[in-house]
Amino acid sequence: MKIHWTQIAAAVSLYPLLTAVHADTLQRDLWTPAEIEQISSLSLRALDALPPDPSNRVADDPRAVALGQSLFFDTRLSSNGRVSCATCHLPEREFQDGAPLASGVGTTSRRTMTVAATAHSPFLFWDGRKDSQWSQALGPLESPVEHGGTRAQYAHVIAANYRTEYEAIFGAIPDLKRIPSIAGPVPEAAAARAWAGLSDAQRDAVTGIYVNIGKAIAAYERRIQYRASRFDRYVDGLRQATSTPQNALSPDEVAGLRLFIGKANCTQCHNGPLLTNNEFHNTGVPVRPRLPADAGRLAGADTVLRDEFNCRSRWSDANPAQCAELEYLVTGAHTLQRAFKVPSLRNVAQRAPYMHAGQLATLREVLDHYRRAPAAPAGHSELKPLRLAANELQQLEAFLHTLSGGTTAPPMPQSVTAPNQNR
Ligand code: HEC
Ligand code: HEC
Repeated sequence: MKIHWTQIAAAVSLYPLLTAVHADTLQRDLWTPAEIEQISSLSLRALDALPPDPSNRVADDPRAVALGQSLFFDTRLSSNGRVSCATCHLPEREFQDGAPLASGVGTTSRRTMTVAATAHSPFLFWDGRKDSQWSQALGPLESPVEHGGTRAQYAHVIAANYRTEYEAIFGAIPDLKRIPSIAGPVPEAAAARAWAGLSDAQRDAVTGIYVNIGKAIAAYERRIQYRASRFDRYVDGLRQATSTPQNALSPDEVAGLRLFIGKANCTQCHNGPLLTNNEFHNTGVPVRPRLPADAGRLAGADTVLRDEFNCRSRWSDANPAQCAELEYLVTGAHTLQRAFKVPSLRNVAQRAPYMHAGQLATLREVLDHYRRAPAAPAGHSELKPLRLAANELQQLEAFLHTLSGGTTAPPMPQSVTAPNQNR
């Protein structure tokens, strides 16, 4: 289509009028300066620079990013050759899987979490039983229901397929000739026996490679972050007091935001630019039938203190003084019973079903849960029932949809298996 100069002139002359109309819309949103401050604190622009990870000396090494990316998609790191991290953390699905419970070699008893922005998170998993991305990555690899393999197997995969890349980053791979193909401290009896039969030096050689697999994967995961959403563009407009059709929110979305920071009190826990306080709370989420009892943070806080790979362990590159999170960790408090990690609400509309075991199918069900604030199955729910009308629940839901902006991750090189080939 040809555009005539008079059309451009008309558009240009209309422009001030249009922006005036939208500035007026912003005016009508009527935020106080204090509210604008509070809303700005939820914007992605308020996110701190990527915090360093002193426990992982290769966290920011681009060679480790590339190796970690390959490993994230490599199904050879599993007992059946069919499971990689990306089986459950799909790049095209916000790095999660959209299922209530995850399926790898078997089925887990919790729902897959997204990997995005976890570099900003002091504790990982719904119960926070890991304190770094690299030590987290080592959990699923030896879990019988996720990757199902053993660390000896994985050391051999590295030696056979990634020797050059690995040695450039971490130095020479020790001689693995006498190491059996399957051995590790796992529940499976034969693998555990083979592991017990190794010398300390052999076990350390294998575990050293295993730890470095985690550190490379973590270097990749650090680069997986959220993209700005419509909400962030709205905040930009608010701060500059200019509005365009691109950064306006509808009246319902604005009303939902007002409830979110006000009457509905969501920012008590969902605050900061990732809409989480990174803490653990009991919100009375129901038990999923046929699953074992889940004590959440009560168990997770103890587990991370004893974890073989925590920040104070000999496998960490940090000195113990850099492990403040473990220093001030609260354990044993009754408030930790069935407390779960507060998830980020970024992209939340794209991530149904919800809660730690996918108990609630839709955002509407989640909001109804907050309205009713049912008693907790164990421990005490911190929620109080909300007096919200049906249209207010709808407004809150409309606001949650403005938080979607997708994720960014390092581009996929040709050599990496397409994420879905392993399904
Ligand atoms: C079988 C599916 C499955 C596989 C395979 C899997 N995960 Fe997960 N992932 C999950 C589930 C389920 C959770 C939550 C588990 C829990 O809390 O106990 C989770 C949690 C996480 C978290 C914590 C996020 C947070 O906010 O705390 C990270 C990071 C993560 N996985 C990365 C990985 C990496 C790296 C791999 C590969 C080494 C991997 N996952 C393999 C299902 C899987
Ligand atoms: C007392 C802290 C607290 C308050 C207040 C709170 N939340 Fe949550 N929220 C959590 C926790 C903890 C979870 C995860 C619970 C679980 O999985 O068992 C969660 C989960 C969610 C989820 C599901 C996300 C997912 O990926 O599963 C949504 C959506 C949500 N909250 C929205 C809200 C809204 C909207 C409000 C205000 C009406 C609110 N929250 C108030 C702590 C809180």
